[in-house]
Amino acid sequence: MERLKFGIDYPMTLLLGIRRSGKSSLVKVLTKKERGIWIYLDLRKFESSTFISFKDLILELEKVINVSVPERLRKLFAGVRGVSIAGVNLRFKWGGEGKVEFSQILEKLSEISEKEGKRIVIIFDESQELRKLKGYNLLYPLAYAYDNLKIRFVFTGSEIGMVYDFLKLDNPKSPLYGRAYTEVTANPFSKEIATEFLRKGFEELDIKVEDRSLEDAVDTLGGLPGWLTYYGFTYIQERDHKRALKKTIETAVNLIREEFNNFLKGREEAKERYKTIMTVCTKGCRWGEAKNAIEAKEGTRIDDKRFTELLNNLVKASFLVKEGEVYKPADVMISVAFSS
Ligand SMILES: Nc1ncnc2c1ncn2[C@@H]1O[C@H](COP(=O)(O)OP(=O)(O)OP(=O)(O)O)[C@@H](O)[C@H]1O
Ligand SMILES: [Mg+2]
Repeated sequence: MERLKFGIDYPMTLLLGIRRSGKSSLVKVLTKKERGIWIYLDLRKFESSTFISFKDLILELEKVINVSVPERLRKLFAGVRGVSIAGVNLRFKWGGEGKVEFSQILEKLSEISEKEGKRIVIIFDESQELRKLKGYNLLYPLAYAYDNLKIRFVFTGSEIGMVYDFLKLDNPKSPLYGRAYTEVTANPFSKEIATEFLRKGFEELDIKVEDRSLEDAVDTLGGLPGWLTYYGFTYIQERDHKRALKKTIETAVNLIREEFNNFLKGREEAKERYKTIMTVCTKGCRWGEAKNAIEAKEGTRIDDKRFTELLNNLVKASFLVKEGEVYKPADVMISVAFSS
């Protein structure tokens, strides 16, 4: 939270962490604690789409600005090309002659920020989805805003490598190349903190749970706050450790499989290969092992470069992490999801 607070005094902050690590919660607490106008774009909704259009982006922005920017300030948008005011709400023209420019919306927001003496923060939650934006390069207006305007940006992402792929901060040909940013990582809780987290939660509700059960829950579920809170919530209903644990695992596994299916959208041609890699790597695997597994299954050789690309995509999407020479599931629930 301290790092995030520091970050939003500057143009660009990245908040990274695998699924269910608490990114959105952190951002929500930040917006409640800190002064400012917060424009929160939830891009999760595009997770199962294969592409996003300029229209999708503009309509989302229109909706959020109408909710987050007070009416008094929305009026200041009068005169911006492609913007009309319908009653008390702004309307953005997303196509055809005289359509709105993303950079002009940013300019207006920046003007409002200076006039009001308030910071304006645009949060792109699950920003890696913006890679799917077709026919429009968002990086140009972002770089323009970075250099010239008073807007702050927060990019969150569960698919950590995909966020870097989207922003292309290290690519000299990219508009955002070389810009400084604050990076914050939401890590899973340590075993101690996870156990304490559950204990305190139950204490608040005056529910007695045996230490054994708490430790078993943490050993089984790992340290992601998302699964721990799910367990706690289910325990309160079930009042039984085994049943609560079973339900949590089932839910986690279903969700991870669904997310994996979303990952496979647009990658159908390599679907079986991705599944094979995940299945052989549930307990960790080396490059050669996973490659052999695919070759054994297909009965032919696979090109080294192509295979590495598949493996890297799984890392970029945070299904796997690479530690030394070993690739392993990014979280214990991911391991479980591909074990059965
Ligand atoms: N620091 C925390 N303390 C207590 N509970 C937390 C904390 N962080 C997250 N949680 C709980 O964990 C759940 C998952 O968190 P959240 O949705 O913020 O994670 P996320 O990283 O945005 O996940 P997703 O990838 O699903 O978007 C939430 O329901 C929240 O209640
Ligand atoms: Mg989230």
